[in-house]
Amino acid sequence: MCGIIGYIGDQPANEVIFDGLTRLEYRGYDSAGIAVLDGGRIVLAKDVGKLRHLREILVTNFPSRASPGIGHTRWATHGRPSSFNAHPHGDCRGTLMVAHNGIIENYMKLKRALTAAGHVFQSETDTEVLAHLIESHYQGDLEAAVLKALADVEGAYALVVLHRDHPDQLVCVRKESPLIVGLGRGEQFIASDVTAIMQHTRQVVYLENGEGAVVRRDGVTFFDLAGRHLAKTPTTLDWNPVAAEKGGFPHFMLKEIYEQPQVIRNTIGGRTSEEEGKIYLTELGLSGPDIFRTQRIVMVGCGTAFYAGCVGKYLIEQLVRVPVECDLASEFRYRQPLVDGNTLVVAISQSGETADTLAAVREARARGAKVLGIVNAKESSLTREVDGLVYIHAGPEIGVASTKAYIGMLTAQVLLALLLGKIRGVLDTAFVQQTIRDLKVLPQLIERLLADTSGIRALAEKFKDARNFLYLGRGINFPTAMEGALKLKEISYIHAEAYAAGEMKHGPIALIDKDLPVMAIAANQGAYDKLVSNLKEVQARSGTVIAVASERNEEIRHVTEYVIPIPDCPDILSPILSVIPLQLFAYYVADLRGLDVDQPRNLAKSVTVE
Ligand code: G6P
Repeated sequence: MCGIIGYIGDQPANEVIFDGLTRLEYRGYDSAGIAVLDGGRIVLAKDVGKLRHLREILVTNFPSRASPGIGHTRWATHGRPSSFNAHPHGDCRGTLMVAHNGIIENYMKLKRALTAAGHVFQSETDTEVLAHLIESHYQGDLEAAVLKALADVEGAYALVVLHRDHPDQLVCVRKESPLIVGLGRGEQFIASDVTAIMQHTRQVVYLENGEGAVVRRDGVTFFDLAGRHLAKTPTTLDWNPVAAEKGGFPHFMLKEIYEQPQVIRNTIGGRTSEEEGKIYLTELGLSGPDIFRTQRIVMVGCGTAFYAGCVGKYLIEQLVRVPVECDLASEFRYRQPLVDGNTLVVAISQSGETADTLAAVREARARGAKVLGIVNAKESSLTREVDGLVYIHAGPEIGVASTKAYIGMLTAQVLLALLLGKIRGVLDTAFVQQTIRDLKVLPQLIERLLADTSGIRALAEKFKDARNFLYLGRGINFPTAMEGALKLKEISYIHAEAYAAGEMKHGPIALIDKDLPVMAIAANQGAYDKLVSNLKEVQARSGTVIAVASERNEEIRHVTEYVIPIPDCPDILSPILSVIPLQLFAYYVADLRGLDVDQPRNLAKSVTVE
């Protein structure tokens, strides 16, 4: 994921910045750049690939003592990885430079207007729009120009600006993407992540949404988007460097669970037009005729990615009205699968390196099917073997048990289903517009859910010694039950089995007694009444039920001992929300059992062998 650093002080900015970028490497990136102010001119170095490429430019051809400066590691969203698209980005006259994390959603509209006004663009990025926009508003006051520019901007950003005429300051602002200011003596730092600067200072100020700062050598002033000055209190960090990489969370898995609202924003960012009711998936690689020709869709993947595909089946069948099958990649590859030129195979993978998924893709293409990848890892093997791609933009996932990548996969599939459904004439504009609106609200609902997880932790405490667990769901909630059971198995080593609730009476009901807790996913209204009947069957056999259900559902409390309330959302989006308590439940159980949450026994993050 992208990283930002800014520095102003007496140390050589390029060294402080390069060192900070190195500390952000673990987050993943595809290009990097640094800009410094040297005697009234901006000097820029950027390159695609690893930081050592940038290092070569810095040691041979770069002012060694200049300050201030800004730097960036980029994880491509708009525009391929290249030195042109690497940050920082400048304006037409080379007066300023911007490094930015996040996505400017209305950048196409802004770019058209700026181009019409004579601005010339060098890159394919959304970020460059910010540089030109600030240039167009600049009248001698950098903070004022930045604020005026941001008034026109929709989307998420953490940005830092360096200006030729202001060697005494850097200006930074955040909305949704994180940004902090590090306080020193006679020097100050700006970073997207504390890891980048904590070797220099432990005094940091966390900017909240809609807050910014003018950072000078001898002090920092804070402001909001309306230009009002703010008083901010610094926090003293007592983290060690490893804790810092985890952003203060005890485990990567928990950090990644908390990153999920941002993953949704990243996955939908720049890909939707609420106004027109349209979805843009620029790397899709499918023509109109390809989409019309599709008679069948097959989802393939392994582990969590497979369960994401199972949710995709419900979404696509409902919104596109094309039959969808889900196949485990390891089964598909040896089954002589019946696919042809009228079949679209969707291969889902976080790493893009899973051997079985890659083999399934090769098998499908050899039989003439078109293959679309839903992938997280940029430039991974899968991305080179498919006809088209939908990147999920979840950023590096380090915890072995997948969480945020799953949320990205589900979100990407909603976009895909809306796009295909619209093109094939199944969905009207009003439906797409409404679903885009609902998707945009989802991150806030998740943030609300994550704000207080004490109830889930208390349940984990109660059930941490269970030997078995049964997970039940119906319809679109069934794959959520499977993914929830997988999470518990993977990290807590408790045997957990998932069943479609209606099938329970055909076998698993024999297992129900007071020692078999049942987790029921009762989030959406679809087959809710039927599920309630199934839960009554459990209750009648002394089973204990925990239900994940709408916070407004009072009735469920009569049929279950425990309820995990979640905010309401439309049925088709509910799998994105209802899996989160299950991730947290598994996490807390594993942690309370004293297990290695991030690296569970016997499991690998990326399984590159059969
Ligand atoms: C491994 C991981 C799982 C993951 C699966 C598929 O088993 O431990 O978390 O879901 O591989 O990985 P992929 O990278 O293809 O999504």
